Formats: sequence, C-alpha cells, structure tokens
Amino acid sequence: MAGLQSGQKTINPKYFYDEAGSCLFAQITALPEYYPTRTETAILQSHAEDIAGQVGKQRVVIEPGAGNCEKVRHLIPALQPSCYVPVDISTDFLADAAVALNESFPELRIEPVAADFSRAISLPESVGCQSAVVFYPGSTIGNFEPADAVKFLQRMRSLAGPAGSVLVGVDLHKDDAILTAAYNDRAGVTAAFNRNVLLHLNRLLGADFKPELFRHHAFYDREKRRIEMHLVSELEQTVNCGSTALHFAAGESIHTENSYKYTPQDFSALAAAAGLKLEQSWSDPGELFSVNLLSVADCCD
Ligand code: AVJ
Repeated sequence: MAGLQSGQKTINPKYFYDEAGSCLFAQITALPEYYPTRTETAILQSHAEDIAGQVGKQRVVIEPGAGNCEKVRHLIPALQPSCYVPVDISTDFLADAAVALNESFPELRIEPVAADFSRAISLPESVGCQSAVVFYPGSTIGNFEPADAVKFLQRMRSLAGPAGSVLVGVDLHKDDAILTAAYNDRAGVTAAFNRNVLLHLNRLLGADFKPELFRHHAFYDREKRRIEMHLVSELEQTVNCGSTALHFAAGESIHTENSYKYTPQDFSALAAAAGLKLEQSWSDPGELFSVNLLSVADCCD
C-alpha cells in the first residue's frame, strides 16, 4: 500500500511470485529472447569441474531462495557437497524439491531450511560450523539497488564463514537490443507476468485492479544500468484497494521491477564493498552472463 501511494507508484517485485506468477516465470526462462537462464546453465555445466577445483569438494553448500533446487543439480556431481542447505520461504515447495533432488542424488545430505532469507538465517546445528559455499544463481541479485546488493552480499559473507565463498550469477551490461528483447518477448509472456502481479494484489489487498487496463512497459536505462518494468495505465481510472481509492492519470505507471546489469568491473567493486574478493568469473562466449566466485578470506578487512 505504501508503494502504491507514493509519488511514483511501486510494487516490490517479490509479489510477482504467486503460483501463477511462478509458473509464468518458468515459461519466461524458456523463451528464445530470455537468454539469462539457459546461458547461466551452460556456464555452470561447462565449468562445474573448474568451479569445484576452486571451492573444493565436500563443502557445505547453502542456497538462499533455492525454490525448485534445479540449478544446483549442475554442480553436485563435480562439487560433491557434504551437505546441501536450500533456504526458501515456501515450505511445501522446498520439501518437494528436496525429495526430488534426493531421488537424483541418493547420497546427498539435504537440510532444507524454511526461512525468509531477506532476514537473518539460522542454520541447522547438524551443519556444523565449517565454512560454506553460498550459491546465489539466476542474477536475482539484480533486483536489489546496488547499495542493498552490498548489504546482502555482506550477509552472505558472514553466512559463508571465515574461509567461505560465495558463487553468484550476474547478468552483464550489454547491447540495448538484446536486453530490451529479453523483457519484451514476442509471445507476450513477460507482459502477462508483469500484469499478473495485479491479480496477486487483488487477493492480498482486496483490490479491483483490471490487468487489461495496464500496458506492459520495459526498457533499459543505460545510465543506471538497469531494466525497468512498469505497468502503464491506459486511461484515467480509480482502483479500489480495500478502503483506499487509488487514482491513476492516463499514462501514469506503476514501477514493478528493476533488474540491474553489471560490467565485470562494477561487479568486482560491488563485491569488494561487501568485503569479498572476486576470485574468478566464468562467462559464455557472447559475454551475456557471468558466474562469479567470491572469497571471504584474504579480503579487505
Ligand atoms: C528473477 C529477477 C532474475 O530480472 O531477469 C524476468 C525476473 N522479470 N523477466 C530478471 C524477470 C522479467 C528476473 N529475475
């Protein structure tokens, strides 16, 4: 409600992910224009041994926001973790994902933690106090303002422990055309994903948004190095949110997402600001996406 009542109306992108939204996002990851997921997967697959060589085998792997635990599958054979700790808010989802993962890797010890990783996470005692590898794929870090991304990485640094590492997927700054297309797919799935947030809000706030009266708008701001997604009101209208009336001028937007992109230099500086040293980056031949290994030890403080 606070976001919707501010000058530039905003909705936090975490509200995209109701059941329908999670399903739409899964469709996005398979779109021809949406390169991040498949590119990251290819990087993880082709460099798994190299990554394992750097971080070491038999380590505890912690994944904040693990969801369906699909990405870690590409690393398990090479990394052979002593324990995998997926952390997610959605308890049921997490339990199912852990069962499915154990079917593929019967030897793997899995200790799921149901928690909101945007708050402090306490790990199961059985995991012990050894340093860990924190795995944060998907360029989810791009949703944070850079200053908040630093704070988040600081927390991942303490979660990893004194000899720990953080492995993070980051989408790279590039040609406008490639970026713009990735958020404006021809099939209109990203538009449906964007509008779906309004149906979620209708349920959460008892609101009466009509998604068809809002137009999907996504563009790359090169200065800020971020994709911005908006929902633009097609006409002047009033939306009831519970007992609050929200007024929209024709053409007025709700800002629904920022997705920051980084140059390798910018990301290295961001990590350093969080007390993490960029040890190595792996990228694809087109340099669309990067997987970055950050170490806690031997850094700044
Ligand atoms: C899940 C935040 C990485 O920013 O690319 C995809 C979300 N939004 N298409 C991204 C998203 C529109 C995605 N992240």
